[in-house]
Amino acid sequence: MLRVEEVSKHYAGSEKGQITKAVDKVSLTLHPNEIFALIGESGSGKSTLAELIVGLQQPTSGLITWANNLQAPKKDRPTSRIQLVFQNPDRSMNPYWRVKDIITEPLRLSRYPKKKAYVHAEELLAKVKLSADFLERYPAECSGGQKQRIAVARALSMSPLLLVADEITSALDPTIEDEMLQLLLSLKRSEGMSILYITHRLETISGFADQVAVMKDGVIQELGDTRTVLTEPKSEYTKALLNAAAYK
Ligand SMILES: Nc1ncnc2c1ncn2[C@@H]1O[C@H](COP(=O)(O)OP(=O)(O)OP(=O)(O)O)[C@@H](O)[C@H]1O
Ligand SMILES: [Mg+2]
Repeated sequence: MLRVEEVSKHYAGSEKGQITKAVDKVSLTLHPNEIFALIGESGSGKSTLAELIVGLQQPTSGLITWANNLQAPKKDRPTSRIQLVFQNPDRSMNPYWRVKDIITEPLRLSRYPKKKAYVHAEELLAKVKLSADFLERYPAECSGGQKQRIAVARALSMSPLLLVADEITSALDPTIEDEMLQLLLSLKRSEGMSILYITHRLETISGFADQVAVMKDGVIQELGDTRTVLTEPKSEYTKALLNAAAYK
C-alpha cells in the first residue's frame, strides 16, 4: 500500500559540519489492513519518520510511494488517504471548542457543510465507544483517554486508509492504554484501514501489531512479523529491550 525506500532525514547541527541523522536509510512496506508498530527509545527518529510518511516533512533522500491502484473509500463526504494523531491531545485540540466541532474540523476544512458534518459527529463518537453526551462537552470536561478517543474520532472523519498514531497512549495508565489498543484493533477491522502505531513500549504490541520495526539512532535495527521478532529477536538491541521490559 505504502512503500518507504531508503528514506533519510538529516538536519544540520549547531556546530559547523555537524549533522543529525534523525532518520537514516529506512525502508519498510505498509500493507492494507495491517497494524505496523514502530518501536524505539526517545530521539530514535520515530516522529520524524511519521512526519515524512504523512508529508509534513520532506526527506533529504529516498522515496515514499503509495500504490497507484488504491481505491479511495466510497463515501458521500470528503476522504483523505492518511491522518495523524499526536501524543498530546491538549496541543492538537482547541480548548474553547466543543467536541462536536473538534471531531468535524477536518470535514469542515474540506468545505463540507457544518450541519451535514454534525450529522456524522454522533456516529464518529460511537466508533470510538463514546456516547452522544460528549458532543456538547469541552476538552477540559474529558479525561486523557477520552480526549485521545476524540482525536481518533476526528481522524476517522476522513475515512483514512492509514492512521498514524504517534505515542497516543504514552500518557495513559496501563488499563486505559490496553483499552485504546483494543479499540484500534477493532477499528482496523471495521474501518478496513492500516495503522502505523508508534510507541517506545515493545511489551505492549504482542497480539496487536502484525509487523514491527525496532529503531535506534534513525536506523531500523530489526523488522519482521511481530511474533517472530518478540520470540526470536535477532538484533542485540531488540533483545536488550525485551529483557528490560521483562523486569518492569
Ligand atoms: N527540526 C529538527 N532540527 C534538528 N534536529 C531535529 C529536528 N527534529 C528532530 N530532530 C532530532 O532528530 C532526532 C529524532 O527525533 P524524533 O523526534 O524523531 O525522535 P522520537 O523517536 O520521536 O523521540 P520521542 O520518543 O522522544 O518522541 C533527535 O535527535 C532530534 O533531536
Ligand atoms: Mg516522537
